[in-house]
Amino acid sequence: MKSNGAREAAARGSGKAEGVVPRETVSRDADPAEGPERAAQVRRLFSEIAPRYDLLNHLLSLNIDRIWRRRAIRELGWPRDPGGLYLDLCTGTLDLARELALQRGFAGRVVGSDFAFPMLARGLGKISEVPVDPVCGDAQLLPFASESFSGATVGFGVRNLSDPAAGFREAHRILRPGGRLVVLEFTVPPGPLMRAAYLLYFNRILPRVGRWISGHSWAYSYLPRSVRNFPGPEALAEMMRGAGFAEVRWFLLSRGIAAIHVAQKNSCGAEGKVRQMTAEQPFA
Ligand SMILES: C[S@@+](CC[C@H](N)C(=O)[O-])C[C@H]1O[C@@H](n2cnc3c(N)ncnc32)[C@H](O)[C@@H]1O
Repeated sequence: MKSNGAREAAARGSGKAEGVVPRETVSRDADPAEGPERAAQVRRLFSEIAPRYDLLNHLLSLNIDRIWRRRAIRELGWPRDPGGLYLDLCTGTLDLARELALQRGFAGRVVGSDFAFPMLARGLGKISEVPVDPVCGDAQLLPFASESFSGATVGFGVRNLSDPAAGFREAHRILRPGGRLVVLEFTVPPGPLMRAAYLLYFNRILPRVGRWISGHSWAYSYLPRSVRNFPGPEALAEMMRGAGFAEVRWFLLSRGIAAIHVAQKNSCGAEGKVRQMTAEQPFA
């Protein structure tokens, strides 16, 4: 096993080759900045931890992430269009894309898109026999035509975007009317006991195990910080509405460790121009 010094030297070396992030940001307490600089740092972070990402994902979540992913796919409503084209944004090593493609009765294709090439490369072995197409691209500037997907998913990706609202607007643009966006993301549990246990695990144990196994000095300290700094479920739902989604609902998983948001694009395709009226919210 490499020493910490050797690993950090390797990390610094790959940063130099990319030439996007100054050396000093690769420290235990580094935190991605805002704006375009943040995107470059996040891309580099995931490129560096890609070799150990899957192992740590399943280990640190005690494999619960697999159950959450299945639940997210259930919410997509893909049986309404089983032969359709679907998009998994921030797909990483392609787990969620694969989960959808493997559903019994699914006869469509899934595009898995991510801007960190090494993450996609790690996932290639999982999709040799399933209809998944990996694409390297930015979730905030998607290389796809408007209204070209029947549905979209994003697992643990929105929190990493430099501008989540821009990501939601792009997701809305590429969806067909009636298509759903399903977002699976970490949250901080609302109940005091669960919250205390979760914060202990997330702040103390996870960063240590993550650093030890990944050899990355700050990736797994960034994870709890990014969850703490992320909007709560209702604020996130509001952001999705602001991006044009007509119907947005959400629910918590595993006592609030994670949440699933389900947003639907209006069938009339003129969100923002046509107001949705209900008896509770009459025209005024
Ligand atoms: C925590 S991983 C989640 C991977 C996968 N969805 C999963 O469920 O395991 C976050 C992923 O989002 C990707 N990502 C972050 N910002 C992105 C952006 N602006 N465009 C595309 N991918 C992005 C990262 O490269 C990384 O692979």
